[in-house]
Amino acid sequence: MPGEGNSTKLGKLKKYFKLLFMAKREFSFYIFCLLLAVFSGCYKDKADTVAAYNPPPPHTDTSSICDTVNITFTGEITNIMTINCFSCHAGTADLGAGIQLDDYSTLKAYSDNGLLLSSITQDGGTSFMPKDAAKLSDCEISKFEAWINRGAPQN
Ligand code: HEC
Repeated sequence: MPGEGNSTKLGKLKKYFKLLFMAKREFSFYIFCLLLAVFSGCYKDKADTVAAYNPPPPHTDTSSICDTVNITFTGEITNIMTINCFSCHAGTADLGAGIQLDDYSTLKAYSDNGLLLSSITQDGGTSFMPKDAAKLSDCEISKFEAWINRGAPQN
């Protein structure tokens, strides 16, 4: 039948166009993806550049700073000695071999002869202080050092 041949041809043609149409759609899909990739790539580059110029956060940790400038006898020095020394070295307490460090003139004499600093830095020049207790912290020793270096004033 001639009609049959025609319909087969028409069918083939239809199939061909359908494929072409699909291919076109597929092709435009690839173009779309390509453009998306390019633009998102550009956007990412820009974001990276902006991030690179961000300043670092400010340094706020002050726990490692030891103030050796604002030191007074009636303030820091007396505070440290009240906690670490006066159980033996104050008033009539005889645990401290009669050395009354709560008396300024006695403390000043031990500051001047070097035994005060020697005892707390535990450099071997005299007995280690505080006796039978943990060594003062580096910061506390630095405060004593700074105060003694300024002539151990009664401020
Ligand atoms: C548990 C008691 C006790 C404490 C606490 C103590 N001391 Fe003493 N300290 C003594 C005794 C006892 C002596 C006498 C020497 C000895 O026996 O080593 C002495 C002696 C000293 C001397 C004289 C050292 C010498 O060669 O003549 C100094 C200075 C001194 N102490 C400073 C301090 C300071 C500063 C502190 C606190 C940071 C302190 N002591 C805490 C018991 C104590």
